[in-house]
This record gives sequence, structure tokens and C-alpha cells, in this order.
Amino acid sequence: MSKTKTEILSLMMEGNYLSGARLAEELNVSRTAVWKNIQKLKSDGYNIEAVTNKGYRLLEPPGRINETLLAGTVQKSVLFEELIFKKTIDSTQNHAFRILDRYDGNIVIVSGQQTAGRGRFKREWLSPEETGLYMSLVLRPNVTNQEMIVFNLFMSLAISSAIRESTGLKSGIKWPNDIFINDKKVCGFLTEVISADNIVDTIVCGIGININPSPVTGSLGTATSIAGELGREFDVNHFTEVLFDKIEYYYDKFLHASFSSIKEDWLCQAIIFNRELTITTVKEKLRGKALDITDEGYLVILDGDQNIHKVISADIEI
Ligand code: BTN
Repeated sequence: MSKTKTEILSLMMEGNYLSGARLAEELNVSRTAVWKNIQKLKSDGYNIEAVTNKGYRLLEPPGRINETLLAGTVQKSVLFEELIFKKTIDSTQNHAFRILDRYDGNIVIVSGQQTAGRGRFKREWLSPEETGLYMSLVLRPNVTNQEMIVFNLFMSLAISSAIRESTGLKSGIKWPNDIFINDKKVCGFLTEVISADNIVDTIVCGIGININPSPVTGSLGTATSIAGELGREFDVNHFTEVLFDKIEYYYDKFLHASFSSIKEDWLCQAIIFNRELTITTVKEKLRGKALDITDEGYLVILDGDQNIHKVISADIEI
């Protein structure tokens, strides 16, 4: 996507009239270039009004993922070298594993719909068209298995911070892999790795975010969507930009800093403290309260018999 087109769109997201002259000056391009890019945006599906003496205005930011805009976001990112966009696919996660050998660097796969979306513990991830953001990040961290344990902490903070920043809603992190709003799940992510000799070579992190309400997610009772919580249309394309910024920022921190550098922020957004939890690990089912999260990424639980447990991964019911 041309840089000018992305920039025009970003400026227009504010919803005000912007004249061709003002856009040209701000972006340091000719007015003809502005006009041409506005035509391209219109053909991408953006509803742009042109009023004499006022300028251009974006009438309705689409709630649907726009491939051109997404490509622009990925192009701007220093983290990802390639975007693979599919209108529909079985699962972005499955697709990532099919193609990752073709690339050396980090890539991202996004789909408008999944026919066989999958979640943790082999659960189904319902992925209807135009309701969610379904994507898989392929990352090449080169970290040890031990260092990898805190990855989900960084990722959960990235996603929750993006939701908070772009909506003003108080999203919260349900350790280890969920983001909630008002005690309902709005996002889940799934982290799978390829490792050898104690080194993680590749992470495939699949993220599913409910953007618009749908009968399928609505019928779950425990799920919600961003637009549903906002009570209005939500611009998924702008959100994606914010999300990529946060992912870039927190992934860099994951590689170069310790969990303690983000722990305070993480704790501020966590929703698992000060409440009774049911924790299912591979070994056992516990009831208790979360006391802390260690710098190595273990959740510390105090059960009803006052025993302390350190849990590395689990399914938690709140
Ligand atoms: C969970 O909450 O259990 C994790 C859900 C992860 C869903 C995403 S959607 C994009 C990617 N492709 C998949 O098939 N799954 C992940």
C-alpha cells in the first residue's frame, strides 16, 4: 500500500473535513497525488465524501478488515517482513505451519474468516466472517525454553493495552492467554513453538479477537466483542495499527528486557487477583487465590488448605 494512502487514511480517521491543500501540505505531496490516493481509497471501499470549500471526510470507517490498509500497517512495521492475507482459510495457525519454512524472518497471516479455527486444549474457535480479527504471528526469537515462559505475559499486555488505548474500555488480562472485558472473553491467543536443543527457533502465536457481535459468539454467554461493549461501530483497521505497534513494542521488550520491567503494568491489567479461582493444570484441579506472578512467569496460588502451588500453565475459571 502506498505510504501516502495510509497517511491520508490515518488523518481522515479523526472524522473531520480535510482539504486537498491541507493534506498535500501535511504529507508533503502534490494535490494531484492527494486526489489520486483518495480515488484509490474509494475503490478500496472507503466511503469518502468530497464537499466544495470543505474538503474530504471519511463517512464511515469500515468495521471490516481492509487488506490494503492492513498491508500498509505491516509495511510500516519494523518487525514483520510479509503479510499473508486470506479472505477465508481453515486456520491461520495451520496455514502458518504449512508455509513458515519459506521465510527466514517474521511474518503475519490474517484471515477474514476461518472454517476450522482452533483454540487452546483443542477447542474450536468460532471464526465467522466480518466479526473477528483472526491472525497468526510467526516470530523467530532465538531464546531458551526457560526464557520463553514469559512470552505470553508480554503478548497479553500488548493486546490488552491496544484494546484499552483504542477503545477506552478497561480490558483485563486473564492469565495466561485471555483478554476479558466486563468479565467476558473478548480475545484468546494460542502460543505454539518450534524448538530444538533448548532453543526456541520459531513462535507461532495465533490471536483471535471478537470485533463485532455475532450470533455465534453471542450464544456462548461467556464471550463478548469490542463493538458490542462499545455499543457502536468499531474501526478494526485503525485498531490493527495500534495492535501492531503494541506487539512490536512488547515483543522487543520480551527479547531484550526481563518480565520485571513490565510487571507493574501487567499486574494493573490482570483480573485474576483478589478472587476465588478454579485452576486446572495437566496434573490437578485446584481451587484457590492467586498471590503473585514470579519474574520467571510462574503463577503463585494459595489453595484452601493454605498450600502454595507454582503453576506454569493452566486453564483458569474466574
Ligand atoms: C483460545 O482462547 O483458546 C485461543 C484462541 C486462538 C484463536 C486464534 S484465531 C487465529 C488463530 N488461528 C487459529 O486457528 N487459532 C488462532
